[in-house]
Amino acid sequence: MPADDRATPNLQIFADANEVAHAAARRFAELAREGVETNGRFSVALAGGSTPKRVYELLAGEEFGARLDWSGVHIFFGDERCVPPDHADSNYRMANEALLSRVALPEQNVHRMRGEGDAVANARLYEDELRGYFGDTTAWPEFDLIMLGMGDDGHTASLFPGTHALGVRTAWVTANWVEKFDTYRVTLTAPAINHARHVMFIVTGAGKAERLEEVIHGAPEPERLPSQLIQPRAGALAWFLDEAAAAKLKGKDEG
Ligand code: 6PG
Repeated sequence: MPADDRATPNLQIFADANEVAHAAARRFAELAREGVETNGRFSVALAGGSTPKRVYELLAGEEFGARLDWSGVHIFFGDERCVPPDHADSNYRMANEALLSRVALPEQNVHRMRGEGDAVANARLYEDELRGYFGDTTAWPEFDLIMLGMGDDGHTASLFPGTHALGVRTAWVTANWVEKFDTYRVTLTAPAINHARHVMFIVTGAGKAERLEEVIHGAPEPERLPSQLIQPRAGALAWFLDEAAAAKLKGKDEG
């Protein structure tokens, strides 16, 4: 996508990771309330990794946990490692311990992405699960919110540099062989993410500063910087950053 086609990024920069987590939790709660009040339900795909864990803990805490109507909230996953749900690396396990097991979420509202077993079969199963929720006639799932992290290599979800999933244009979910980890992952595809109403990147820490500048302001190189593939077609994209991660962003002080 030519650089000039990319919208001006909505950068929300906070002093530290804790403030980022609070801001992201507030935005999640705002969108969830809006979705449940307007449409009777709210669909969110959670990010894995370590950064969002604090956001999930805050959402389960007293400021949000008891005040949100979880009965209308539907939890999905942006990607999953190919491990059982009780494995230390499982994104489901992290989210379940930090949030899902601590709030009044109906069991049927948690749409777990299976990590155990065959990745290709699990990708197909998850796409069926999504079609069951979003409808079988719709061209793409329209999540109310997709939360994403970004690796220091520029990946997001399990869309890693130079991998098969980057070129998937029709499937909503795909299995993706990640050479550097010598394992499969299961992930939403870039077009599925790009049909969301709201996409929220949460990126913190100095270790990501250089890559973040490349992703946001650098030349389009999505094979090397897969986070550049995330350009919501009609939805809103926001970056929740701490000062450390934003330190190398040029023009970040513009209004
Ligand atoms: C995963 C995530 C992945 C994550 C980034 C950043 O399964 O690991 O979906 O995309 O968001 O790797 O991870 P950290 O937040 O741990 O830096």
